[in-house]
Amino acid sequence: MKHTCTSSSRVALGEGAVMCYTSQTQEMKKHPLASYLLPDDVLYLTALCKASKSTYGDMLLVTLPKSLKKILLVHCGENGIPSFRKAILLVRKITRYAKSQSFSSLGFFVDDFKLAGTTLERTAEMIAENSELAHYEFRTFKEHPKDGWKDIEAVSYATKDSKKTHTIQKAVMVGAVCGEQINIGRELSNSPAGHMTPKSLAQEALKIGKKWGVSVKVVGEKEMEKLKMGAILGVSQGSTEEAQLIVMEYLHGPKSQKPIVFVGKGVTFDTGGINLKPSAGLGEMHMDMSGGATVIAAVSAIARLELKVNVVGIIPAVENMPSGSSYRPGDVLRSMSGKTIEIGNTDAEGRVIMADAFTYSERYEPALVVDVATLTGACMVALGDYTFGVMSPSDAVAKKMTDLGEISGDYCWPLPLWEEYEQDIKGTTGDVLNAAKNHPRGGAINAGMFLYQFAKKFPRWVHCDIASTMTSVPAQNLSSGASGSGTRLLVEIVRNAKEVTSMKV
Ligand code: BES
Ligand code: ZN
Ligand code: ZN
Repeated sequence: MKHTCTSSSRVALGEGAVMCYTSQTQEMKKHPLASYLLPDDVLYLTALCKASKSTYGDMLLVTLPKSLKKILLVHCGENGIPSFRKAILLVRKITRYAKSQSFSSLGFFVDDFKLAGTTLERTAEMIAENSELAHYEFRTFKEHPKDGWKDIEAVSYATKDSKKTHTIQKAVMVGAVCGEQINIGRELSNSPAGHMTPKSLAQEALKIGKKWGVSVKVVGEKEMEKLKMGAILGVSQGSTEEAQLIVMEYLHGPKSQKPIVFVGKGVTFDTGGINLKPSAGLGEMHMDMSGGATVIAAVSAIARLELKVNVVGIIPAVENMPSGSSYRPGDVLRSMSGKTIEIGNTDAEGRVIMADAFTYSERYEPALVVDVATLTGACMVALGDYTFGVMSPSDAVAKKMTDLGEISGDYCWPLPLWEEYEQDIKGTTGDVLNAAKNHPRGGAINAGMFLYQFAKKFPRWVHCDIASTMTSVPAQNLSSGASGSGTRLLVEIVRNAKEVTSMKV
């Protein structure tokens, strides 16, 4: 979609202008877009609003009797949109409705969505990002319809304050870039495992990196052997697909600035391995590389935004398969760190491959490491569908994540990472155990605690378990499948890099 900040007259006169109303402002002539419509049409709109029994979020597609122009009337509640969270959902709802009605363009009056306590720029950014997110659907393998896809081609934005056109346009571009890159990540996640193998994920990362100026290097199994990455190689040994470690470097900050490293779980299909998953759990497991997709999306968004930072993305990519060559329960793998990992359950593979990726990350001497992984079913049980888990040895850092999550729309919530939990992941035949002794109690925390054993050299570290938000739910007003969660949080962390990387822990 093309996003442009323009004049109110253009938005009013173009196709698909959105006009918000509350019962208090039923006089539609007071709406800033109304002055560009024919007076009789405005009277008609007012009459419609008065007569309608709509409530918050209801939409009415109106063809104006005089000009025959199509307007989308949106009820924004008696007292206006109640919260920023609700504003996000409303923008998505409008976009999806407009798309279903075959609008080729959509026009927002940004002030309609501005809430107290936020700026017009942030509001515009939110609209652009969320219209992109709501517009996306996974259709790569679907036949092209005879009369084409119902795509919205252009979104325009207007505001009362014409002096702000330039800053609003900039904000709109930021939002659109984030939305587009998140959708690229969703596309990677939604792609079936037969297409999105570790090698093809690496190829996609190379392509995306080349397009946006991120240098990408791929470490194959031969080099992994030299690096003694026994954990990644161990998980991967049951698959005919070669494991890959994807390394994306975007070093555009001062040389003296230590980088932020993102690590994303890239299990392109998780059967569970010898501890085979039941049928019900298998269908979505091509999305077990969603943490990796999030990292690819975030690093490319940061590059597109030309942020002056040093960021590295690291994605261990494997397929977890049962076969004659698989790793087994009871096996002991020697990780790159030297620590041995006792395999209690081959389905707890994510934490195992992340261990080697963490050790690899040490070479960057990062100021902060954030890992993103669809790590545990337990996280879904703990948190439900609307937020993902964050764990950090520093409460201050974890709290900062929830704040940035709220700002970005990528809601996350802390789980404890207290030392008491360490005893449950101590190994008997190896140093650490990948499936805790007290399984399934505190499964998300035990996984976090396992990862922590390999993260102790980092001055700041946060683990995001995005299993709970891997796929969208209907109430989020997104198409079904991958939600792209985590990307916005990573971008927001980088936008606040100075503060986050200097936090006292
Ligand atoms: N990829 C799964 C976790 C998952 C489940 C993500 C559902 C998204 C949706 C992970 O590898 C896994 O299977 N974890 C096990 C760990 C257990 C064996 C200790 C789990 O959560 O059951
Ligand atoms: Zn698993
Ligand atoms: Zn997994």
